[in-house]
Amino acid sequence: MDKMWAGRFAKALDALADDFNSSIHFDCKMYKQDIKGSMAHAAMLGATGIISNEESEKIISTLGEILADIECGKLEFDMSSEDIHMFVEAELTKRIGDTGKRLHTARSRNDQVALDIRMYLRDEAAEIQGSLHKLIEAIKNKASENVYTIMPGYTHLQRGQPISFAHHLLAYAMMFMRDCTRISDAVARMNYSPLGSCALAGTTYATDRRMVASALGFDGVTVNSIDGVSDRDFCVELMSAMSLIMTHLSRFSEEIILWASWEFKFIELDDSFTTGSSIMPQKKNPDIAELVRGKTGRVYGDLMALLTTLKGLPLAYNKDMQEDKEAVFDSIETVKKCLEVFTPMLEGIKPLKDNMYRAAEGGFINATDLADYLVKKGLPFRSAYKTVGTIVGYAINANETLLSIPIEKYKEFSDLFCEDLYKEISLETCVEKRISEGGTGFEQIKKQIEYVEDFLNND
Ligand code: ARG
Repeated sequence: MDKMWAGRFAKALDALADDFNSSIHFDCKMYKQDIKGSMAHAAMLGATGIISNEESEKIISTLGEILADIECGKLEFDMSSEDIHMFVEAELTKRIGDTGKRLHTARSRNDQVALDIRMYLRDEAAEIQGSLHKLIEAIKNKASENVYTIMPGYTHLQRGQPISFAHHLLAYAMMFMRDCTRISDAVARMNYSPLGSCALAGTTYATDRRMVASALGFDGVTVNSIDGVSDRDFCVELMSAMSLIMTHLSRFSEEIILWASWEFKFIELDDSFTTGSSIMPQKKNPDIAELVRGKTGRVYGDLMALLTTLKGLPLAYNKDMQEDKEAVFDSIETVKKCLEVFTPMLEGIKPLKDNMYRAAEGGFINATDLADYLVKKGLPFRSAYKTVGTIVGYAINANETLLSIPIEKYKEFSDLFCEDLYKEISLETCVEKRISEGGTGFEQIKKQIEYVEDFLNND
């Protein structure tokens, strides 16, 4: 296809160079945003008298037809076009001749592409927030079913203190809620229209940038035309939000993988989200969680790729910036796919409550509570800590737990011990007693569930 800019050149572009230069195979994704942006631009050109109302209307209605034809499959992208912007403009001109050629007045592909990506990412961001909501809802439901399910809480992957399984799950809900609001923050900064910045310096035409911006749902216009076409910080921000979503999904996946292992056996994954082995008949592999964990590296890579692309670029537009799209699209697509499969996998998880409870009984997980018991009876904490340390040492040798040592034996360590100690250090009491705000106490868990519900209803 003849290039729009062919007039200045004596020779056609080398075929390899042409292929290397073109971006239509990936930026065709933005056809809807490109066309909507062009419609708003044409409306503004008409309203300001830069082109006639008749021409403006003709352009707008034909762009509408092009959009409809693409959506119903009647019009296919011409992969020999350089990019989506050139394709749409060429198609318009093919359909309405010279009038179509007026669309690009007071505009450049530099501000056009900067506009299209913002609109595209804005739409995608809303979709991802919708998927995050579904995930948060699934976590909340699992948590509500498991308020009284007791498991060991860990530090250093060593059993630390007993907790409610719901408490552990809700920790992830908090992370994903922040991810949701982080996306909103990034979109709020991104939502300014660069259109009208033109190539870099603005234009001599008396355009109305604000009219275009408000027609397209932007909160305003970018203030400096060079900045408007030069930066892709909004892509980087969104990609770093994507990276954090993956960080959270990956940690959650890691735990699901551990919990599903024979070593832990805290959960059973639904058969429909696991795979078998081609050689070991006993295997039930958590592939989905592993792949989500694996794809995290890829999303981090996309972020690093774009940061690196941008770091040495002089202002304003450089062709290097065309590389933004594959990176940001991949990051978005990957997160979308991961969320899509992770949520139903989570919904299918069956907690093996007895195993969790048994694990919480071992490992002297209630030792802190035994020390607190002595403190309540009047012993200073340091002395209580020491006494309990001695008791734990005894229990390890005698193959006892803190709940199985008889009271007579306890009394040998301190005469402050009475029968009530067993209730005080039962796992249920240990969890229930942690009443501080945000703690694992059952009542606190219910408040956390309410907090998540409020978020889902109001965000
Ligand atoms: N396909 C280009 C991109 O994605 C559009 C902008 C081209 N501008 C230019 N001056 N060559 O960045």
